[in-house]
Amino acid sequence: MGFENLRPLAPDPLLALMGRFRTDSRDRKMDLGVGVYRDAAGETPVFQAVKRAEGRLLHTQRTKAYLGVEGDPAFVALLGAAIFEAGRGLPGLQTVGGTGALRLAADLLARSRPGRRIWLGTPTWPNHAPIFAAAGLQMLGFDLLNPASMRPRPGAMLEALQGSAPGDAVLIHGCCHNPTGIDPDTAAIEEIAALMAARGLIPLVDLAYQGLGSGWQQDGEATRQLVARVPTVLVAASCDKNFGLYRERTGALFVSSPTRAEAQSLCSHLAALARTSYSMPPDHGAAVVKTILEDGDLTKLWSAELEAMRGRIGRLRAALAAYGDVGGVDLGALAAGLGMFAMLQLTPQQIDRLQAEFGIYMAQSGRINIAGLAEDDIDRFVDALRAVQGVG
Ligand code: LMR
Repeated sequence: MGFENLRPLAPDPLLALMGRFRTDSRDRKMDLGVGVYRDAAGETPVFQAVKRAEGRLLHTQRTKAYLGVEGDPAFVALLGAAIFEAGRGLPGLQTVGGTGALRLAADLLARSRPGRRIWLGTPTWPNHAPIFAAAGLQMLGFDLLNPASMRPRPGAMLEALQGSAPGDAVLIHGCCHNPTGIDPDTAAIEEIAALMAARGLIPLVDLAYQGLGSGWQQDGEATRQLVARVPTVLVAASCDKNFGLYRERTGALFVSSPTRAEAQSLCSHLAALARTSYSMPPDHGAAVVKTILEDGDLTKLWSAELEAMRGRIGRLRAALAAYGDVGGVDLGALAAGLGMFAMLQLTPQQIDRLQAEFGIYMAQSGRINIAGLAEDDIDRFVDALRAVQGVG
């Protein structure tokens, strides 16, 4: 009793799409929805490096006793060293995936300044705004896309941030922008970092796809630039895609602050926020990542597997781009993108038809997960695009 005012809510659209795909009995269906890597056989395999690390843990792990609110500090230090360069890791704590890191960061921003504002370019991952709203942040959206071409406008963020005030936070996609796949180039990141430093803004970097765009080092470059130039930066890192640990919910939140004392203070608040939410993060995924990153051979194996995934995504992207204009959908533009995602200029009706008539599942925004395609699906996918547009 007492819940009469709550009406049932629709499920999250992307997760609902995943459910509909599972129950579709058609043989040649294609899942281009949720951002999960698939190999040529349509599988999301466990990395060999992960399997080997799990094998070691099976034999060496002596206890499942609590680790603590911050999770495993050794995992945080190793991941931090991999992202920010050895010896230059940042303080932080282990989180429940990248989403948990984003929520903790949003809670910290709201707790330290009630009514804090956060800027976010749209389109973005559909869960960003609900996370920030749940934390009580005030959101200021700006349009990343050129309405005529539906392609990202390079100066959109700089232009929008002319209206920013000191202490505002800004959501930054660390690499492989979700959903457009288009990242600012190095010069643009330098300008963005300089503007943020000059105006006293706080970047909140969502780093969920490192290693799937141009390579691990290059994909971390924008984040490192921001950390080098802007006094306060929060970095939400996820190991879901780049270690294939999705369901293990493995991530970390890193804090870069002007002083060590402030960083420690912020981490103490993050720990308190975690304690009142989920108490402590799950260990298994972090233990696997730690085992890989502290062993040279396992790191080499993991890195080669990640490179192979990146290579496959790049080849699929190039194969799609080679079709150029397909009845008004500019597949050629995909060549400029990085990572798993791209946006196609399709109407909601065309997206519905792709699903109903061809078993092709994609987000209602027009986002496709390129990594969901099998090589021999590409022709059929392009034919279906033509069909829903009434061409050829
Ligand atoms: C996605 O954008 O598809 C992924 O980040 C998965 C998710 O949780 O939505």
